[in-house]
Amino acid sequence: MNTADFRALLVAPGTSLQVALKQIDLTGLGLLLVVDSDGRLLRTVTDGDLRRARIRGLLDCVTLGELPGRSPIVVHEDATASNVLALMDEHQIDHIPVLDPAGRPVDLIFRRELSQRIWLSSPHLGEEETAFVEEAFRTNWIAPLGPHVDAFERELSSLVGVGHAAALSSGTAAIHLGLLLLGVQSGDTVFCSSLTFVGSCNPVRYCGAQPVFIDSEPETWNMSPAALERAFSWAKAHGRMPRCVIIVNLYGQSADMDALLPICDHFGVPVLEDAAESLGAQYKGRNSGTFGRLAVFSFNGNKIITTSGGGMLVSDDPELIGRARKFATQSREPARHYEHTEVGYNYRMSNVLAGIGRGQLRVLLERVAQRRAVFERYRAALSEVAAVRWMGEPRGYCSTRWLTCFTLAGPEAPNRCEGLMRALERHQIEARPVWKPMHLQPLFSGAPYFQHAENHDVSRQLFETGICLPSGSNLSQDQQDRVISHLRLALDAGEVFFGST
Ligand SMILES: Cc1ncc(COP(=O)(O)O)c(C=O)c1O
Repeated sequence: MNTADFRALLVAPGTSLQVALKQIDLTGLGLLLVVDSDGRLLRTVTDGDLRRARIRGLLDCVTLGELPGRSPIVVHEDATASNVLALMDEHQIDHIPVLDPAGRPVDLIFRRELSQRIWLSSPHLGEEETAFVEEAFRTNWIAPLGPHVDAFERELSSLVGVGHAAALSSGTAAIHLGLLLLGVQSGDTVFCSSLTFVGSCNPVRYCGAQPVFIDSEPETWNMSPAALERAFSWAKAHGRMPRCVIIVNLYGQSADMDALLPICDHFGVPVLEDAAESLGAQYKGRNSGTFGRLAVFSFNGNKIITTSGGGMLVSDDPELIGRARKFATQSREPARHYEHTEVGYNYRMSNVLAGIGRGQLRVLLERVAQRRAVFERYRAALSEVAAVRWMGEPRGYCSTRWLTCFTLAGPEAPNRCEGLMRALERHQIEARPVWKPMHLQPLFSGAPYFQHAENHDVSRQLFETGICLPSGSNLSQDQQDRVISHLRLALDAGEVFFGST
């Protein structure tokens, strides 16, 4: 239901039943909301109420306000989908209006929506995964390692255009091994993008090292070159030169590598590229994941392709990837007996999951096109909402739009974002705030942080005013229309109550 449809449901108590009948047929929802002159809800009137009044011969002599009825069952804006469903069950009704604090209807929830949750980003399998998995079963390769693992590594390397790859149990494990391979040790400093998922920097702590967080720049939301420069000057002055820099490519989009890499090169510090969210993206004609000394992909269930859980560490350096494979298999030495000279980890991907990965790899480019199409539909549908600012995609970048994200402009933006997400959630639509930056996480309190510019904490602002929308490549047009219409309604309510921006 869009805003115009919603407004068509609102009728005055003086409306005749004849007019109300026409209006209810026009709206096609079987329901009208009777409101007073201040817009406050007085009652709901259903198709059934009107038909019963007709049978009793009341059609020509009674107005809506004179119909017998009881006070409507309503919820307030903070109601959750489960509250709403419980009320519907209790009162045996299929729709419930949502009222603002003044008692004005701002939304209407239908039972049929509540059984069909729309996810932010759900797995989308192709047609070949099952055959690969069946092959693993048939040949009894149910172990970590096996032919699918080798093939998945080869196929991913060739698709991305990188020399070597090690398939691992998660992206986080890949970052952990990447840090170890770059020599990160207890007491070291590691620079990392602040605006990211915690999986980027938990491994810094696994190594006993200290993270230093770098802000984003406003255009791409990725690491700010200006902040990185300042962090290096500080590190030099304080004798805390980092062992490496973790540059994160956010929400399907590469960071500005042409600006960032020369800074790291200048100080002789290697880059670990966290491409967990950007498999399939390009930057100036090169694939994401080919810029760092090492790079990491994730195949977590919410990623553009998935193995249910898994990751990949890639590099052009065969020695680094060879060592990663050894670390990931408990650092086993090449001996018939079990010989170990250094600490190792159980981080290898299983042959069964690699089978899923091989199938998924075959549809990666299709998935990129589908996610980009999802983004374009949102952009077109909300093009005249001035307060919505989409995550940018500067010239030379090709984002996968893994997640469609936007920020709201205007002084009330944080409240409006909260209201929008609440509105979507009560319709069983999953939307999320943009990542809460690491420098704001209690886990990392006290860690040094370098802002994009003085008095300009970009990542904080993106977190406070940003929203990620359902973006799955398997999001149907109907589902996306549902998201868009609820978004429109909630955004219009924002415009009414907070003033346009
Ligand atoms: C930016 C980023 N880095 C690292 C990770 C960790 O990957 P995984 O969940 O596979 O451990 C994720 C996501 O899950 C991520 O989004």
